Amino acid sequence: MKDLLRLKTSLNEEIEKLLNDQIKVEAHSSAIYLAMSSWCDNQGYDFSAGYFEKQSGEERKHMLKLFKYINDRGGKAISPEIFNIPADFESFRSVFEQALEQEMYVTQQFNNIADQCFKQKDFVTFQFIQWFLQEQIEEEYVARRILEMFDVIGEEGTGRWEIDKHIPKVSYSAE
Ligand code: FEO
Repeated sequence: MKDLLRLKTSLNEEIEKLLNDQIKVEAHSSAIYLAMSSWCDNQGYDFSAGYFEKQSGEERKHMLKLFKYINDRGGKAISPEIFNIPADFESFRSVFEQALEQEMYVTQQFNNIADQCFKQKDFVTFQFIQWFLQEQIEEEYVARRILEMFDVIGEEGTGRWEIDKHIPKVSYSAE
């Protein structure tokens, strides 16, 4: 019996827990981006609403990627409960500030998982999360470029309308 249990998974218990915790973080990101999309839509920032809706979908894909990995390796992925999603935000700018903070937090979480993978000598999971670490370069880059527009364009007059219009054009190239 003991041997059968050992054969069931080669995922270390602690790593499995960290990955399940990350599923919660990604699910939370997906939900918060959807809330941001709704708020932007309500305020008349249509392009930003579309941007956050798309981001929300991306975060769900990240969550599912982790979900599949845990189960593929013989672990047990846990469907996350999501709490504390705000319906309102202070300002147009604060939405993007919060989005950048969220991405910086996600990067920190993956760095921590990478660190634990090294400590546990789990190089398979270490390899798996490289994709996420790479993805974070883009996520943080885009969030920062958008925030810079608030300073470059300015929020006076038609500024916010102008910023909103430019949101879909912000993209990242690794080249
Ligand atoms: Fe899944 Fe934007 O981190």
